[in-house]
Amino acid sequence: MERDNQKQKLAKYKNMKQKNQHYSTQFPDVKIKVFSVPESLKQHLFIFKTITGVFSFKKIDLGTKVFIEHMTVPKKQSVLLDLGCGYGVIGIVLAYISPQSTVYLIDINKRAIWCTRENIKYNLSDRANKVITFSGNYFEPIKNKNIKFDGIYMNPPLRNGRKEFLKICEEVPYFLKPKGLFQFVIKKKMGAEFVLKYITSNFSEIFDIKIICKRSGYWVFDLTLLD
Ligand SMILES: C[S@@+](CC[C@H](N)C(=O)[O-])C[C@H]1O[C@@H](n2cnc3c(N)ncnc32)[C@H](O)[C@@H]1O
Repeated sequence: MERDNQKQKLAKYKNMKQKNQHYSTQFPDVKIKVFSVPESLKQHLFIFKTITGVFSFKKIDLGTKVFIEHMTVPKKQSVLLDLGCGYGVIGIVLAYISPQSTVYLIDINKRAIWCTRENIKYNLSDRANKVITFSGNYFEPIKNKNIKFDGIYMNPPLRNGRKEFLKICEEVPYFLKPKGLFQFVIKKKMGAEFVLKYITSNFSEIFDIKIICKRSGYWVFDLTLLD
């Protein structure tokens, strides 16, 4: 009886550990299980390969979906970045709706980048050469490449703390072309109001700041670099 109890407790602990496994790590320490996630986005059916240890591997996050529906993409041929791409949903949709553009995707999580590469091959086979992936810490992989973006898109890992995200906001202007945009989504409960106040008081001289939409508890931000 005592032994069964202990076994149950151990199983519960293991399960908790797996669920809490943080996806913002280079090498997630959870048993590998691969999933297939079909989703219609921008009136097109995508099929994403996902894997345990990657953000929202069972289904596309609601914040990501709200973001994709409201993000704006320059009409001209552009250079775009999905920063913290997970299994690639935002960047792959960007490349789909803007086939003339070059899209970069970066994530620290090696499993996420593996999925992203698979998902590019599967969903964008005709334009895979215009979609470039890097594994690494935010802007680090492109730091010395002299690449500037027309748009940077992000569903930030706020579980890493707001400080980390606000530091990225400071770096973003160095990677944007004139009038470039930085769009991101934040759950109201995860501090959207705080972020708005912070960026309004710290970045109003650099960015034109707008909230594009408030839907299902998510706020989509648009920061456009001022001249
Ligand atoms: C909230 S998830 C969003 C993932 C994906 N964009 C989506 O919407 O499904 C944030 C992503 O940022 C990644 N990430 C966390 N820390 C990072 C870092 N230091 N550098 C690059 N990516 C990071 C995580 O691995 C995760 O995939």
